[in-house]
Amino acid sequence: MNQDVKEILISEEKIQSKVKELGKLLSDEYANTLPLCVGILKGAAPFMADLTRAMSIPLEMDFMAVSSYGASTKSSGVVRILKDLDSSVEGRDVLIMEDIIDTGLTLSYLIELLKGRNAKSVKVVTLLNKPARRKVDLVPDYCGYEIPDEFVIGYGLDYGELYRNLPYIGILKEEVYSS
Ligand code: XMP
Ligand code: MG
Repeated sequence: MNQDVKEILISEEKIQSKVKELGKLLSDEYANTLPLCVGILKGAAPFMADLTRAMSIPLEMDFMAVSSYGASTKSSGVVRILKDLDSSVEGRDVLIMEDIIDTGLTLSYLIELLKGRNAKSVKVVTLLNKPARRKVDLVPDYCGYEIPDEFVIGYGLDYGELYRNLPYIGILKEEVYSS
């Protein structure tokens, strides 16, 4: 285990079996639709890489990178698009892939944005869900695990850009934040 990690919340084995289960489910749900899978950079990269490989149907992949605006406008949920999609979503079944839904502000903005571009459908699959911190009414269509209100790292999630490559979801030691 990484020396900065206090506790493993979800093991590599648990993540991988959940990803396989979600992959099977999504293969049924999106059979014959050629979904456009949209990964939200950077956190969703490991999840998307594993999940799409667990899907046994034809699909396309694209990516967006977003960042929240400063604290003053955060409650509006407006996000800044750092990298937009390469492809058009018009008439497409879009499946957004996220690492974690926290307040829900980022995703609710993106869902409306893609619907406004005339996607046929926009759904969300997230590995983790922290419903305790929700600020908008957003329920993921597909979810791996609900977790308590703890800051987590690993499997795409970072603290100061580190730990994204850990194969499990962990909780950091307090001393890592305070040093
Ligand atoms: P919302 O808009 O749902 O944003 O608040 C979700 C984004 O917030 C980040 N986030 C976390 N990142 N550990 C992290 O490393 C966490 O526990 C955590 N909670 C939220 C993350 O970037 C996510 O996409
Ligand atoms: Mg982050």
